[in-house]
Amino acid sequence: MSINSKSSKSFKRLENILIIGNGGRENSLAWAIQKNKLIKKVYLIPGNAGSERINKCERIKIDINNNNELIEKLVFLKIDLIVIGPETPLANGLADFLRKEDFKVFGPGKDGAKLEYSKSWAKEFMRDANIPTSNFWKVNSLEEAKKIIYSSSTPLVVKADGLASGKGVFIPDSKDECLKAAESIFNGKFGNSGNLVVLEEKIQGPEVSIFALCDGERYKLLPTAQDHKRLNEHDKGPNTGGMGAYSPAPLLTEDYLERIVREIIEPTINELNKKNIDYKGVIYFGLMITKFGPKVIEYNCRFGDPECQTIMPLMDQNFVFLLEKCAMGNLSGDEKIDTSGKVSGCVIATSKGYPQEYKTGLPINIGKIDSNDCQIFDSGTSLSKNGELLTDGGRVLSIVCQHKDFDMVFEKAYKNLRQINFDGIYFRKDIGHQVRKNFSKEN
Ligand code: AMP
Ligand code: GLY
Repeated sequence: MSINSKSSKSFKRLENILIIGNGGRENSLAWAIQKNKLIKKVYLIPGNAGSERINKCERIKIDINNNNELIEKLVFLKIDLIVIGPETPLANGLADFLRKEDFKVFGPGKDGAKLEYSKSWAKEFMRDANIPTSNFWKVNSLEEAKKIIYSSSTPLVVKADGLASGKGVFIPDSKDECLKAAESIFNGKFGNSGNLVVLEEKIQGPEVSIFALCDGERYKLLPTAQDHKRLNEHDKGPNTGGMGAYSPAPLLTEDYLERIVREIIEPTINELNKKNIDYKGVIYFGLMITKFGPKVIEYNCRFGDPECQTIMPLMDQNFVFLLEKCAMGNLSGDEKIDTSGKVSGCVIATSKGYPQEYKTGLPINIGKIDSNDCQIFDSGTSLSKNGELLTDGGRVLSIVCQHKDFDMVFEKAYKNLRQINFDGIYFRKDIGHQVRKNFSKEN
């Protein structure tokens, strides 16, 4: 495919952006990007039913795995910057392919995405760079797993090595359960993603999410966030993709964040360089704040969901330039983000049954919403033939609000939630309990 039609693009102003992905994360990225006056169009492949409610946004129906068709379309649309949202296309090398075709891409190549798509590789990476993380064993067989499980003096966590849509982590209560988890992974519960199992020492403490935008050498941190992984209030029930979040996380004082930068962020970037990995995208550090200091639970090669929906409304209109600078390798790292002194919170409305089986295709009714510093990003929705909004996923809607303080943020978010209804709607009522001063009074 000829790239002549794009040869002058590095001198061209940013106008047309493409986002790949179909969740609340991608809709929130689109929303933050379109705020910039220079941006004419934000295309989403495939996006969801909420995408076209966002100013300047348009969905494109095309198969991202059909290389020729994809490139033809991107040239036709005069795409200036591509942002890849989810981990699967990154792990499949989509960013490498698009860069070879001379597009500016925000998202790591396959080598960088390995931080997420191989947990054992990520653990070895951390060991090489002396980055604090829990002890681990990479195991190839059930016999090997059994030996380690029954000789370990500390409780263990069991993980499938590869991508498993957030479902490949088990936190067993006993050694027998631990072995059962390893067995289910080796028996193919996650297909090839379970050819290897990682056993990890179980550690304890609150979790925080940190996002570093990287241009290959330098990085810029976004406001920190805290996710709520468990399905039910009081952090009970099964793990989910995330039931809500808030940003920033006051748990991380400036000093503590400096420590994280010193012990974790910078050693990670240096190790990527040492391994000749030109990482142009976001690194998501999933950290646990233990009594021995911060430890990495996991790396992801993408923005977190719902952390992204929570953080994006805090971005100023220059956000898209940060993405472009990462893609071009010319970030200074000193860029300022003007959050207008606001904090943000997000509550996820899910389908009944999530994270297990759930129905889709249920009509969604949205009443009068306070849209002042509040957004609704569709996570899993579709449109019926006559244009009615329907549920189309486990996580259905992300309800996000900003204000100067967290009490107001969540008051507004829950007020808006009362205006939303679909059969079986479920959400946690205690999102942000850590930062809501009036929380105990209300509940
Ligand atoms: P991950 O998909 O690796 O983020 O794991 C999902 C969740 O499992 C994390 O958010 C933690 O709550 C928990 N988890 C993962 N690894 C550990 C560990 N080594 N110790 C304790 N909890 C863990
Ligand atoms: N919110 C957790 C994740 O995106 O993996």
